[in-house]
Amino acid sequence: MEDKLLRHTLADRVFHWAMAGAVLVLLGTGFLPILGLDFPWVTAHWISGLILTAAVLFHIVRALFFQDLKTMWISLEDLRNLIELTRWNLHLSPAIPGKPGKYSLAQKLIHHVMTLVVLLVVATGLLMLVKIDTPWWERNPYLLEESSWGFIYVVHDLTAMCLITLVMVHIYFSVRSEKLFFLRSMLLGWITRKEYLEHHDPRRWKISDKV
Ligand code: HEM
Ligand code: HEM
Repeated sequence: MEDKLLRHTLADRVFHWAMAGAVLVLLGTGFLPILGLDFPWVTAHWISGLILTAAVLFHIVRALFFQDLKTMWISLEDLRNLIELTRWNLHLSPAIPGKPGKYSLAQKLIHHVMTLVVLLVVATGLLMLVKIDTPWWERNPYLLEESSWGFIYVVHDLTAMCLITLVMVHIYFSVRSEKLFFLRSMLLGWITRKEYLEHHDPRRWKISDKV
């Protein structure tokens, strides 16, 4: 039997799917009514917004205190590899480009763009909660000036639209056949030793945990 190596712990997998579920419900309840499908969307929208907020807070605490930030940091070596890859593709250099650590440059970029977009959509969404009735308070549309609300709505709507594109690109790449082993690792946790050696530089990503 081939060794199974741990890529995503259970906590990270639960976070990813809770966050993904919340984002998909938010996009559905946010945009389907605009497309003409009329249903009472507000409650489902704000409740999944709160679930997304909790998931993101959980992840940030975990990333800052229990994981290694360098895993997701864009390093000089990533940029050097990108230059090598471009030169190799254009036949300017015969040198085979280096392999990534745990995450490729593309994954790190989409992580950072999604972080920015999700934090903005969550922050503006939380402010907008003041304007609806919840079990805890009654709506108060007068907390901020009209022009401030306008700004908050524009940021919320624009970042939500960016999310549609980002999520489409992300799902497209995760179901491509050569990336399916990443999808398995987000479901079951592990990749094989062969996949590890084929796709990663063991110097840049040291795995010790077997499943
Ligand atoms: C300041 C905010 C954030 C920081 C510092 C941060 C940091 C990190 C780090 C260091 C990792 C690598 C963990 C590892 O594999 O060892 C990671 C992974 C990940 N991040 Fe973030 N992140 C942030 C915000 C977000 C947000 C807003 C999202 C949601 C869109 C997100 C989604 C993910 C996912 C799905 C993974 C892969 C799962 C895993 O941890 O293995 N991150 N993040
Ligand atoms: C059905 C929907 C989704 C699928 C199939 C999916 C699939 C995956 C997979 C397979 C990974 C792990 C890649 C790895 O091991 O390196 C991953 C990571 C990640 N996912 Fe998702 N995901 C989905 C939805 C989402 C949503 C809605 C968001 C946020 C808005 C998101 C944000 C992330 C981030 C930031 C990472 C870490 C960076 C990366 O590895 O690309 N995912 N996702």
